[in-house]
Amino acid sequence: MYYLSKIRSLTSLVHLFFTFILLLEGFLVTKVDCLNFSYPKFAKEDANDLITTNNSYVAFGALQVTSEAVGIPITNLSGRIWYSQPLNLWNRKKNIRASFDSTFVIYIKPQSSTWGEGLSFILTKESGRDSIPDNSYGQWLGIVNASTNGSSSNKIFAVEFDTRKSYLDDLDDNHVGIDINSINSVNQVSLTDRGINLSQAIDVIASIRYDGESKILRVYTFMSNQTRDSDRNPIISMPLDLSSFLPEDVFVGFSASTGVYTHQLNCIKAWTFTSTDIGNYNENNNGVSPLRLWILIPIILVLVMLLGGVFVHFTWKRKKMRMQVLDQYKNIEIQIQNSATAPQRFHLKDLKRATGNFDPKNILGRGGCGVVLKGLLADNKEVAVKRFSKGSSQGAKDLIAEVTTIGNLHHKNLVKLIGWCYESNELLVVYEFMPNGSLDKLIFCKENREIREGLSLNWEIRHGIICGIAQALDYLHNGCQKRVLHRDIKASNIMLDSELNARLGDFGLARTVQVNGKTHHSTKEIAGTIGYMAPESFLIGRATVETDVFAFGVLILEVACGRKPGKQYEGNNYGNRIIEYVWDLYKTGTIIDAIDVRLDRDFDEEQAECVLILGLACCHPNPYERPSMKTALQILTKESVLPNIPTEKPAFVWPARAPSSNEAYCDSLQEGQLTPITVLSGR
Ligand SMILES: *[C@@H]1O[C@H](CO)[C@@H](O)[C@H](O)[C@H]1NC(C)=O
Ligand SMILES: *[C@@H]1O[C@H](CO)[C@@H](O)[C@H](O)[C@H]1NC(C)=O
Ligand SMILES: *[C@@H]1O[C@H](CO)[C@@H](O)[C@H](O)[C@H]1NC(C)=O
Repeated sequence: MYYLSKIRSLTSLVHLFFTFILLLEGFLVTKVDCLNFSYPKFAKEDANDLITTNNSYVAFGALQVTSEAVGIPITNLSGRIWYSQPLNLWNRKKNIRASFDSTFVIYIKPQSSTWGEGLSFILTKESGRDSIPDNSYGQWLGIVNASTNGSSSNKIFAVEFDTRKSYLDDLDDNHVGIDINSINSVNQVSLTDRGINLSQAIDVIASIRYDGESKILRVYTFMSNQTRDSDRNPIISMPLDLSSFLPEDVFVGFSASTGVYTHQLNCIKAWTFTSTDIGNYNENNNGVSPLRLWILIPIILVLVMLLGGVFVHFTWKRKKMRMQVLDQYKNIEIQIQNSATAPQRFHLKDLKRATGNFDPKNILGRGGCGVVLKGLLADNKEVAVKRFSKGSSQGAKDLIAEVTTIGNLHHKNLVKLIGWCYESNELLVVYEFMPNGSLDKLIFCKENREIREGLSLNWEIRHGIICGIAQALDYLHNGCQKRVLHRDIKASNIMLDSELNARLGDFGLARTVQVNGKTHHSTKEIAGTIGYMAPESFLIGRATVETDVFAFGVLILEVACGRKPGKQYEGNNYGNRIIEYVWDLYKTGTIIDAIDVRLDRDFDEEQAECVLILGLACCHPNPYERPSMKTALQILTKESVLPNIPTEKPAFVWPARAPSSNEAYCDSLQEGQLTPITVLSGR
């Protein structure tokens, strides 16, 4: 979090500087009335100044040039977004060309192991929903398609930021190219040896500068943490007469595409555009008049002072944040000792001995915040020791969260926390040892290894696991003094004890919320694991009991189907959508076919059907329609009947509507502030 916000503040600083320089340049060269605009970030209302095609949106503080719409997979998409006013690029009569500078922040987030295709800055002859060529997805980057490629009637200029080598002429999967009416670039440069990797979900700043007088195009690309040197040296500098193939008025914008198995979110997080005015151009008055200088000098002074102030502010803020992190470490002990039934505090040397000095041979698993090792205490008791990565402020937060939340909880389906340790910067948590490891290893392993090892997850065991987790969650949500949201329910966080009972573990993200008095059963910050996150989490930007129920629903489906949400369903177009897959089978009345084939039809069909439908009910796109954990548990124990779910999976609609009878919910879900997508940190 700290790191992200640092990057963001740096980016905005760079931005401010840019805007300042560009405005100055603009003031010196031009008079009035040219195309100039600046978006340090994008708000929803900015969509009014922009023209978007299908698959393009303004959301999460950025332009989502190709994005997932509800119910449409992110594969095979192309989209464009333009500024609504045209740019007067050149003037035939006077034979003059405008200069412009388009500076923007690119953010590309791969969504699959093979990422692609890319994003480009474009100048086009027209704009509008229908002006994007059909079938311009995949390698065509939303610029042209197979039949229009190379045609001079396209009248399109593009600077592509390509993240996939899609044909022989492409340099690599990380390059910038100059495209004229065609996807076959006239000039291209790899970004790899410049230390930039477009597909790394980082902010990349790009400037396209065109000098209309000397007819030279320059492209600059650098990351927010690179020195300004990379700004002075363009990665591409070439003579180019845009007026030789573009009309006098053009539209400026972006296009992007995704491919078959190559998906990514193509975002523009900020955009500043300046241009010179050629409509009112007066050849005789090209210099800077003394009057202008008198206006300019005070403005420059004020701006420099402002910039200095901003810089000092940021430096001070960073320092303060660093101090806070240190304070947090100091407070760990106090916070933990203050919690009512404080778990045992271990000495570092005892835990070192127990784990063979953190011998990598003893590693049981790795998580986002560290490793888990097997250990043997002096009294011959086996334990699992979680060792947080050193020096992360998140580690300290997670440790406090774990020890203060589950340290006080006791339930047969929760992994028991035995103790903790904080010494010489080592953060450690000690749990009871689970001989059968985590659920994901057993349920998703290939070739039935578990069966070979004589450890078969038959239907009864799977049903038991689902019931166990339901009990644990009902206890967390409704059974203890303070309501606890787990926020990261997934197969790898479920442990199996020696009798194959399910135990919910990893409370690193858990948060308690008070239940007495006003019911605020939600917490700020988004966290969790993609695939298990309810659709509304991205919009409301926080966890709720309903998002926990959603993750539980995904877990049920996985355990019953024996499939990872990320597994491809051969022959079907489900991508990684286990919910759509099961819901479609439900529609055709064959839901029972979803059950893991490895079970060989050896299960109680009625019970299995009930479990699958409950899974779908928990994954209902409308959070108000999901059952509570209490109801879910009663359904599993047959004390309550299944809710009716529609045969077709309903579309996700936001804001969601509560069924009118259900007023108790009003408190919990209200449309919150949109949180930028970068905050989502999967673990
Ligand atoms: C390319 O786009 C044009 C214009 O949208 C369309 O008429 C044509 O059918 C497309 N070609 C292919 C191969 O899809
Ligand atoms: C760029 O980043 C992606 C994702 O982190 C990685 O898979 C790829 O190998 C990187 N490419 C280069 C050229 O470093
Ligand atoms: C995407 O396009 C390719 C051809 O370019 C096609 O084979 C594939 O079926 C399409 N995939 C989807 C999900 O539409």
